[in-house]
Amino acid sequence: MRSDELVDCHVLVIGSGGAGVRAAIEASQYGETVLVSKTIVGKGGCTPMAEGGFNAVLAEKDSCLGHYEDTLRGGAYLNDPDLARVLVDEAPDRMADLIRWGAVFDVDDLSCVAQRPFGGQRFPRTCYAGDRTGHEMMTTLTERLADTKVETYQEVSIISLLFTGEQIAGAMGIDRNGEVILFRSDSTVIATGGGTRVFDISTNSSSGTGDGYALGYRAGAEVIDMEQVQFHPTGAVYPYDARGRLVTEAVRGEGGLLKNKLGERFMTRYDPERMELSTRDVVSRSIATEILEGRGTKHGGVYLDVTHLPASQVESRLPVMLEQFLKFGVDIRLEPMEVAPTAHHIMGGLRIRPDCSTTVQGLFACGEVAGGVHGANRLGGNALAETQVFGKRAGESAGKTQAHTKGHDTAQVETERKMLDGYFTGVSDPAGVSKKLKLSMWEGAGIFRTLSALEQTRSVIQHLQSLPLHARAAENLVECSTVKNMLTTASLIVESALLRPESRGAHVRKDIKQTWTPETSPFGHTYLSRSCRGIEQVSR
Ligand code: FUM
Repeated sequence: MRSDELVDCHVLVIGSGGAGVRAAIEASQYGETVLVSKTIVGKGGCTPMAEGGFNAVLAEKDSCLGHYEDTLRGGAYLNDPDLARVLVDEAPDRMADLIRWGAVFDVDDLSCVAQRPFGGQRFPRTCYAGDRTGHEMMTTLTERLADTKVETYQEVSIISLLFTGEQIAGAMGIDRNGEVILFRSDSTVIATGGGTRVFDISTNSSSGTGDGYALGYRAGAEVIDMEQVQFHPTGAVYPYDARGRLVTEAVRGEGGLLKNKLGERFMTRYDPERMELSTRDVVSRSIATEILEGRGTKHGGVYLDVTHLPASQVESRLPVMLEQFLKFGVDIRLEPMEVAPTAHHIMGGLRIRPDCSTTVQGLFACGEVAGGVHGANRLGGNALAETQVFGKRAGESAGKTQAHTKGHDTAQVETERKMLDGYFTGVSDPAGVSKKLKLSMWEGAGIFRTLSALEQTRSVIQHLQSLPLHARAAENLVECSTVKNMLTTASLIVESALLRPESRGAHVRKDIKQTWTPETSPFGHTYLSRSCRGIEQVSR
C-alpha cells in the first residue's frame, strides 16, 4: 500500500463558495477545521459570479411571512416549508453578519441598505452591491476566513467520501498533480455548489460540475427533486464564447423591458400582471416560446432593453453589465441587449433537515448542493441568502458533532485507488464525453421536456457512463473524476425528471395534460438514492 498525505481534523468542509466559507468560519469555533477547494478560495464557484442580490426582510413594511409566501408560491409549493421558513427568518441576521464583517452594500438616501425589486416578490427586498453582490460577499467572507484558524487545501478535488462503519469519516482527494490526500474528520460538510455545467449553455463557472450531488449519492445519501433545474431567463447569446453568461435579473429589477423582434413586450401574453418581474420559470418559458415561434432576434434571443432608463442609473446600478456588453461592442445605454435562457441553478439536491444533516450519518450539506429550500423554482436573490443561512447552520451542526474513533475503511481507499489507476488504461477522451453529455442534456432535459426526449437522453448518458475514461497522465485524473461526477449528476436529473409525471415549476412535460395546479398536485418530492427511488404522493 502507498503512503498518502493524511490530514486530521474535526470538521472537513468541501467547497469554497459562499456556503462553504460560511460553514468553515462557523465550524472553526468548535475545533480544527479544514476547507478543501478544487479552485482557489474566494475565486471559484458561483458566489463570486452572482450579480443581482441577497433577499432579506429589512424594511418595516415588509414581513418574513411575506417573504415566506413569495418563496413558496415562486417554488410552486414544492419547497420544504421548514427549510423555507428558516431561510426567510434568518436571512436578515446573516446580512447583518456580512455588514459587520465589512461588506459594503448599496444604501438609499437615508443610508439604509438599499433594496430593489426582483421577480416573483411582492416587496423590493433584494439587497445589492451594484451588480457584483456575490463578489462583495466573497471578498468579505474570504477576509473573515483569514482571521480564523481554518486550514485550506486549494486545487484539491475530492473524489470520494470515506466511511468508518456507517458513518462518513472524511474524504479522499487528489491534488492537481494527481497525488492522493486522505482527510479524516469527525464530520463533513458538502458545500460544492451546483452543477448546471452538465448543460451545453450555463451561467455556472467551470467548477459547476455537480461534484457534491455525485459524491453524496455514491455515499448513499438521498437526493430530492433533481429534475428541478432553473433556466435563468437572460443569458448572453453572443459572441459564441460568452453564450450563457449571466445577464442579471437586476436589469429587469431596474426597469429593463423584454421585447421580441417585432418590438412587442411579449410578457403581456404570458403574465400581464407581473410582466418582466414574473418568476424565472415563467419568463424563461415565455422567451423560449417567442424564439421557437419565430419572433426571436437574429442571434437567437430576444431583446432586453434599458435604453429608456437614465444613463446614470445604468452606470451606477449595472456597471458590470455595462462593461460586459461594451466588450461585446454593445453600449446598453443606447441599444438593447440580446438574451436567451441559460441553465443556472439546480433546486433539488441532497435531502437535508433544518440542521443541514443529510440522510447519511456524519454528512451535512448546505448551499446549492442541498435540496428543498426553493421547491420547483428559486426566486432570484434567495440563493445568496441560502448560502449564508444554511452555511452557518451546517458549520454549527458539524462543529457540534461528537468525535468518534477516527479511521477509514482501508478496503474502500484501495477500491478508490484502483478506480484512479484504471483511468490510465481507459480509452475515451473525457472532454469528448463531456461535450456529448452537455449537448444531449440541452436537447432532452432542457426547458421543455417529453418522455421520449428524456428517454433518449437517458440512453446517451448510460452509453457515456459505459465508456472507460482515459487519463494521459496523473494531471488528467481530476478531469476524469469530474466527468464521472457530471455523468452521475446528469443521470440524477434525468431519472428524477422521469419520476415526475407533471409540469411543476421549472420542470415542464409538454406531453402531459394535467388538471391540477401546483397547489393541488397529488405529488410531492421525487427522491433517489442507491437503495430507493420514487415520487411522494400527497393526500388532499
Ligand atoms: O440574476 C441574477 O443576478 C442572479 C441572481 C440569483 O440567481 O439569485
